[in-house]
Amino acid sequence: MGKLVAFLVPFIWGISGGIAAMQQPLSTNLGWTAELSKSWNVLGPFPIHAREQQFISPSYPLNLSEPIDFNRTWPSSYADNGRVSWSKTQETEDGDLKISFPKIRWSDLRATEGWAALQHHAVLHTNLTLHPPGSGSNIPPPRLLVQLIQGSYITIVPGSELASSESFVPEWHAGNIYELDRTLPRAIELPSPPSTRSPTTYHVFVSGDYEIRLFGAPESNGIPTQTLKLTIEAESPKDSVQLEPTQDVPCDFVGGYAFGDAIGLGVRSLGGSWTVTSAESSPKLDGLTVDLLRPTTLAPSQTRIVPLRIIQTKPFTRPTLGIRLTLTSSSSKNQEVTLSASLPIKHLPAWSKGDNLSAIMGSYFYAQEMPTAYTAFPPLLDNVEHQEPQPPILCLHGAGVDIAQSFWIDSLPPQQHSWVVAPAGRTAWGLDWHGPSAKDAWASVDALSATLNANSLWHARRVAQDTPVVLMGHSNGGQGAWYLASRFPDRVLAVVPAAAYIKSQAYVPLLMSRSSHFIDPAVRAILETSLTPDDNDLFLSNLVDMPIFAVHGGNDENVPVWHTREAVSVLQTWNADANVTYKEDAKQLHWYPSVLKNDEIQAFLDSVLQSTSERQRRSKTFTLTVADPSESGSLHGWKIEGLTVRGRLGRLTVDMRTEHELRVVTSNVDRFSMLMDASNGIDSLTIDHALLDLSSPEVRTGGRGGVIVLEKDGRRWKFVASSEKTPGHVPTRIQSFLSTNAPFNLVVLDSNNTRDISLALRIAHDLNAYHRLDAEIISGHETFQERLASGTKGNILIIGNAASPSLASILQHPKTPFRIEHNVLMLKDAVLDEPGLGILFTHPHPHEVNSQMLFLVATDAAGLERGGRLFPIRTGVTVPSFVITSSRADSIGAAGVLGAGVWGGDWSWNSAISWLY
Ligand SMILES: *[C@@H]1O[C@H](CO)[C@@H](O)[C@H](O)[C@H]1NC(C)=O
Ligand SMILES: *[C@@H]1O[C@H](CO)[C@@H](O)[C@H](O)[C@H]1NC(C)=O
Ligand SMILES: *[C@@H]1O[C@H](CO)[C@@H](O)[C@H](O)[C@H]1NC(C)=O
Ligand SMILES: *[C@@H]1O[C@H](CO)[C@@H](O)[C@H](O)[C@H]1NC(C)=O
Ligand SMILES: *[C@@H]1O[C@H](CO)[C@@H](O)[C@H](O)[C@H]1NC(C)=O
Ligand SMILES: *[C@@H]1O[C@H](CO)[C@@H](O)[C@H](O)[C@H]1NC(C)=O
Repeated sequence: MGKLVAFLVPFIWGISGGIAAMQQPLSTNLGWTAELSKSWNVLGPFPIHAREQQFISPSYPLNLSEPIDFNRTWPSSYADNGRVSWSKTQETEDGDLKISFPKIRWSDLRATEGWAALQHHAVLHTNLTLHPPGSGSNIPPPRLLVQLIQGSYITIVPGSELASSESFVPEWHAGNIYELDRTLPRAIELPSPPSTRSPTTYHVFVSGDYEIRLFGAPESNGIPTQTLKLTIEAESPKDSVQLEPTQDVPCDFVGGYAFGDAIGLGVRSLGGSWTVTSAESSPKLDGLTVDLLRPTTLAPSQTRIVPLRIIQTKPFTRPTLGIRLTLTSSSSKNQEVTLSASLPIKHLPAWSKGDNLSAIMGSYFYAQEMPTAYTAFPPLLDNVEHQEPQPPILCLHGAGVDIAQSFWIDSLPPQQHSWVVAPAGRTAWGLDWHGPSAKDAWASVDALSATLNANSLWHARRVAQDTPVVLMGHSNGGQGAWYLASRFPDRVLAVVPAAAYIKSQAYVPLLMSRSSHFIDPAVRAILETSLTPDDNDLFLSNLVDMPIFAVHGGNDENVPVWHTREAVSVLQTWNADANVTYKEDAKQLHWYPSVLKNDEIQAFLDSVLQSTSERQRRSKTFTLTVADPSESGSLHGWKIEGLTVRGRLGRLTVDMRTEHELRVVTSNVDRFSMLMDASNGIDSLTIDHALLDLSSPEVRTGGRGGVIVLEKDGRRWKFVASSEKTPGHVPTRIQSFLSTNAPFNLVVLDSNNTRDISLALRIAHDLNAYHRLDAEIISGHETFQERLASGTKGNILIIGNAASPSLASILQHPKTPFRIEHNVLMLKDAVLDEPGLGILFTHPHPHEVNSQMLFLVATDAAGLERGGRLFPIRTGVTVPSFVITSSRADSIGAAGVLGAGVWGGDWSWNSAISWLY
């Protein structure tokens, strides 16, 4: 799970080109220069667990609205005598900032607390001086382009004196903590204008969090060292746009035809709002057109990937594809500009062979409109005539691995008759193969099938639509393989998880948590329901009939080998005859080239792929386990569709051990469906010890498509017509907001509120950086109403003040327990008007049952910052359907939460899994 990049050659976006664009240099400053001091003050270490930085103030233990005393000491259980003080460090020659605390007795902490001790927080401080241009008069202030690598948050504080103003609320920006490739610096507005005559000093605070998963095990001296890199440049805003080739999404051509229909071009606004209104190939081509999928509007300083559709009627063989975009400024001038890109094209024969076998980079539109690439090896041979194509092998990469590098695909075994598909998972880390990364994995297979179908020249290597797959993965991807197989067992034929960890909480334990010293365990349990869908071990009951070949290096230094041993043991506890082979490669470390490429795995794949006509075996008794029905598929045709208490696990045990009799025992399930063939030859059906009448018409006709649906009515089960509307998706956790069906709408209710706009820009930046998810910023309540009227499918984030009239008008007819009374936000009897509150809650989408809204509202600027940090951009942030955070969270983390819970099935109050102070 720990990142794999240490094994890789630094990546250059050159494999299939990238766009050599005609464009200006990255930063066009009109002479402003930013000078970052090389000397830093450091305060720490403080124990925290892996995601507490989302709840705690990034400047913990400091309050940046108060003067800072560099002589003061602070309590920390890591230090001898229990207190830590400020120390100093210097940036290295190559610009790295190395943070370590050599006086701490790390080996003692590690001996008792293990890796949990290697999670800690520190505050880093330095200063930044802005020098005005030489001939300064009437020069607008610059903004900062900030690239923070491997730091969690950064803020810029005004004034040469620290904290001169009590009302100052720092604006925190997430760093690129995973060191993701191809991440643009973020634009930060200065907190106060600089002098145009003399240098102006600002203070820079960084939250530096050591995470064992990111920084790896300490070197031989046992001292954990964080290596951060911070670069800051000044950029003068100007009304224009530029191409950002690092954001482009390419697509290879096979035998002259694009292997997919999507191409993306990165564009950034340097100032002002711009809309891409048209696109064309330039020069015009015979038999190939490039169409703009939809107009794309960029907010000031925003970067988006412009979606372009390729339509081809003739082969294209040139080495580059020229594309011209036309953009219109939304300012009154309606100024028009064009941007010209020249995209190098990688041409491959249909099909490459033997020693020359090349991976193909294909493309498709994720969530309808987001250009997305994947890589794939074609099968070595054509499909066998008159036979169904063989299912593909879906291969999930480890953390930190970018599929544009050949490292991953080259580690996979090409097959005679199967495609080997390596999806991006959105980015090198994505969401650890859950949420949008999981959707990307399935969608890449669907895209491959659609692409091959669309061109008759490729039919001989076609893949069936909705094909099942064999899953394979290494490290984080091994974990992803367990995850996808156990959530969608009927779409998976077999799994090969290698060097997998079970779940994040088991990988780096949460036991050094700060909030746990303050929080009511009952409240902690409610928050942690949002981790349940990720608890792979709890869902292993779903895999008892699946052929599994699990692999782990016996000396894995990155993901300890006990993880796979334990997963196999859990599986065998459910069913001692589970079809699992465990191969422990003695003495091997985390990565070795033969981990997935060897004769044993090939023999396993051959046996699985050759017998696909026979369905998987079915045990006489098995248990289906589900946390969120909308994020889970069926097992042997059985599917849990609704839970009695949402936030708790649902289980369905099917027992066919007695002939002609089918017994089902449910736990926390109130609706499920089954394939009628599951009960073939069955005379009697007992559910929860009550006999059901099998003569009802639904059963005899098998419902629609052979599916029958059962619902609990009080204590009794009854058949319901399967045509009856299935309940829409009510998310059990805020993280599911990331799984949008179209680009996000980030709505800022008050278009005059610069902090609200900044938060929308920050979230848009993070969605792109961490997940390559596209978002449009919609400024103002009226614009939002217009957008709704024109219909929008994407998830909607509403940012605003809890007391704003526009919020009151949106919540006029409450659809959740949140409501507005006398201009204040209320939840049940709680009046949410105290300063510093950050409030997040999911809410139905106005017209799409499978989309959702998320409200991120606050009682003031400090509350907005707190709420904004809970937007779950990374795995493991414990935010269920709603959460209310307060100023107390700054120092005691999740224990400062005033309320949290999981909505009931109809967005109602669910008292079993809810809490309010
Ligand atoms: C900024 O940092 C430099 C170098 O560390 C130091 O000499 C200077 O005093 C600092 N300025 C302020 C205002 O803190
Ligand atoms: C901090 O300590 C130094 C040296 O002990 C002393 O000179 C300085 O005045 C102290 N500063 C404050 C703000 O107490
Ligand atoms: C591989 O490519 C090289 C050069 O393009 C060619 O000479 C060779 O015959 C090819 N080998 C195979 C097995 O196709
Ligand atoms: C386990 O799976 C393999 C691979 O599909 C298959 O060959 C074997 O027959 C299965 N064993 C059992 C007991 O079902
Ligand atoms: C925004 O500010 C402008 C100019 O100050 C003002 O005219 C307008 O009424 C404000 N709009 C809102 C919604 O407050
Ligand atoms: C931080 O300090 C300011 C100014 O003293 C104060 O108003 C605020 O409540 C403090 N914040 C917290 C979380 O204690």
